[in-house]
Amino acid sequence: MTETVTVRVPAKVNVQLAVGGARPDGFHDLANVFLAVGLYDEVTVTAADELRVTCAGPDAAQVPLDRTNLAARAAVELARRYGIDPAVHLHIDKDIPVAGGMAGGSADGAGALLACDALWGTNASRDELLGICAELGSDVPFSLVGGAALGTGRGEQLRALEVGGTFHWVFAMAERGLSTPAVFREFDRMNHGLRVPEPVASQDLLDALAKGDAGALARTVSNDLQPAALSLFPALADTLAAGRAAGALAALVSGSGPTTAFLAPDAGSAKTIAGALLASGTCRSARVTQSPAPGATVL
Ligand code: C5P
Repeated sequence: MTETVTVRVPAKVNVQLAVGGARPDGFHDLANVFLAVGLYDEVTVTAADELRVTCAGPDAAQVPLDRTNLAARAAVELARRYGIDPAVHLHIDKDIPVAGGMAGGSADGAGALLACDALWGTNASRDELLGICAELGSDVPFSLVGGAALGTGRGEQLRALEVGGTFHWVFAMAERGLSTPAVFREFDRMNHGLRVPEPVASQDLLDALAKGDAGALARTVSNDLQPAALSLFPALADTLAAGRAAGALAALVSGSGPTTAFLAPDAGSAKTIAGALLASGTCRSARVTQSPAPGATVL
């Protein structure tokens, strides 16, 4: 029997995040265009006496190691469905920023699920895995599939999208995190009394992705959570301005933030933008990467 399984899972950026009004269940309907990017967490699962979570990486101290961790919840749910004791050691090598708006927690949930499925030989179908992911969180199904996808409902109902080329990105990590529920609450507060339109995916944006046209993508990216994230974290405006001044084609908050995303014309410019962002003193670190990236993969 396999003793240890490692799964690599990508981060995401939302190139469009259209947010509708609050639903009766507290969630918001979305038109969420996910793009997986080449920053990865690795989840390693090993048989153990009891369920245990450990984490290594620059942000490791901020990661909960109890059963609220999405990796632990994924293992417990798969075990429950197959009548297995979830006695495993889950180790997370964390490179995706924590509470950053890049689906790092979701990545760990999807990674643990795929790793436990392989370790235990449960051979759950893709649909069952996606169903468990959707129970764990709105962004978790996308972490499993990667590439690019349009998420509707609360973001968990996915349609794969075509991507016709490589996009070059810089991500600037902020000094502190932002809570996703707090950003949605701020969105509700700012839109109180206003008619929030139905979220709809932009056809121009989908065409830009399909063509691999960075200039066209830059003209069509949008994030309805950005005003709320900036309201809670006003200094992010300085980071966005620094990236634009350094030649980014587009600058936006990634998901609920506070990580900011900069679309670059090519790999060389991405390096220049990252250097300028670091020199500006408006972020903790800046990383260069590309998209699309594959979904959760057993190594
Ligand atoms: O689904 P997930 O657990 O990742 O969502 C975290 C929080 O983000 C939710 O509790 C909710 O406050 C907010 N959210 C939302 N609408 C969505 C997705 C998330 O309001 N479509």
